[in-house]
Amino acid sequence: MPRKEPSRAVNIGLLGLGTVGSGVYQILTSECRDIERKTGLRLVVKKIAVRSLHKKRKIRVPQRILTTQVRELIEDPSIDIFVELAGGIHPVKEWISAALRRGKHVVTANKALLAEEGLSVYRESLRASRRLGLEASVCGGIPIIKALTEGLASNRISHFFGIVNGTCNFILTAMSRGSLSFQKALAEAQAKGYAERDPKLDIDGTDSAHKLAILARLAFRSEIPLRKISVEGIRSLSGADIEYAKELGYVIKLLAIGKKWKRGLELRVHPTMLPLDHPLASVRGVYNAVFLRADRAGDLLFYGQGAGMFPTASAVVSDILDIARNISSGSRPAAQPLFPQLPVLPIDDVKSKYYLRFQVEDKPGVLGQIARTLGRHDISILSVHQKESYQSRSVPVIILTYEAREKDLRKALGIIRAMRQVSEKPVVLRVEK
Ligand code: HSE
Repeated sequence: MPRKEPSRAVNIGLLGLGTVGSGVYQILTSECRDIERKTGLRLVVKKIAVRSLHKKRKIRVPQRILTTQVRELIEDPSIDIFVELAGGIHPVKEWISAALRRGKHVVTANKALLAEEGLSVYRESLRASRRLGLEASVCGGIPIIKALTEGLASNRISHFFGIVNGTCNFILTAMSRGSLSFQKALAEAQAKGYAERDPKLDIDGTDSAHKLAILARLAFRSEIPLRKISVEGIRSLSGADIEYAKELGYVIKLLAIGKKWKRGLELRVHPTMLPLDHPLASVRGVYNAVFLRADRAGDLLFYGQGAGMFPTASAVVSDILDIARNISSGSRPAAQPLFPQLPVLPIDDVKSKYYLRFQVEDKPGVLGQIARTLGRHDISILSVHQKESYQSRSVPVIILTYEAREKDLRKALGIIRAMRQVSEKPVVLRVEK
């Protein structure tokens, strides 16, 4: 009987032993026999760079593999894969670049880095002919990067909508289910450990914009300058609009929207009204989902946990396994491609349906004036809903429009806002279907 070749070890250097790093270490150590039996790959965590050697940890890690010196990982010629789970932009970007230059493949979950400084890292990956795995950077456990780059490789994607921030989705779900105010729902998210103490990055839409940049780059095969994404968060959403939306048959979700037109790309993050029968409408709590339209495969929905130790670690390990398979079969893992930069349409040129809420004096002619102003700006009304108010002479008027241009809407709203009978800044929500 031929003797079975012993499998070659693929050595891993791990930067960061926080929540995700601990998850990756646990999967790699507890599953190593199973992984070796199934794939013939022996994955070895050779070194882990941490901030403190003496910090109390929830998992047991041999002290001898811990170091506080990242360069020990970068300069160790036996390390094949540098796994970056530290977060932050500098000096992490420099460490990743150095690791690529030293011939290591890199796996990262660092969405902020990829969205803000990705181009220089992608260039380094290409120059060094080394793989940059980024599955864990978007939507945690959902294999959306693999779907875009491999599963849907023969498709053109016309558009996608993503619920890519679990914190915001939790807050919006709590507001909608429990009729909570934004502040109360945020406090609940913080109490449950979903929202950070400083929740800015999530609730202002920045985290979603980072993920949109990464998804759109691969979906539309275009480099994406982050500054061209229009971003609005959920901070100013009121419970009243969530209730009115519900009455009209809609739910409000923070969406990361990417659309590809002949003229260019539409890239935006904002609270969006979706009909209750839309596949994304039933994505609740901290769950993430991406709905996309592909020309060959049709409509697809990806759903799962977008954050957390094991969902994100699962994505990291999938990249590690991919690279390890290539290394052990002697083939070269593909570097990140570089794409041309397609134009991004300014938000002013974007067309959408709108939900508008005006707080107006309940007097004859007010609604007529608003309708005339919208009409003069080429905005056609789909429906009008006025709420009764017994306590005050001011009432909410809700108008749903047909598709209109953002620039026209802004002009019309400027005029309406200046009307004496309109008491508050109008609420504007975009509607998708
Ligand atoms: N804070 C993010 C979220 C997870 O709430 O979805 C990490 O991107």
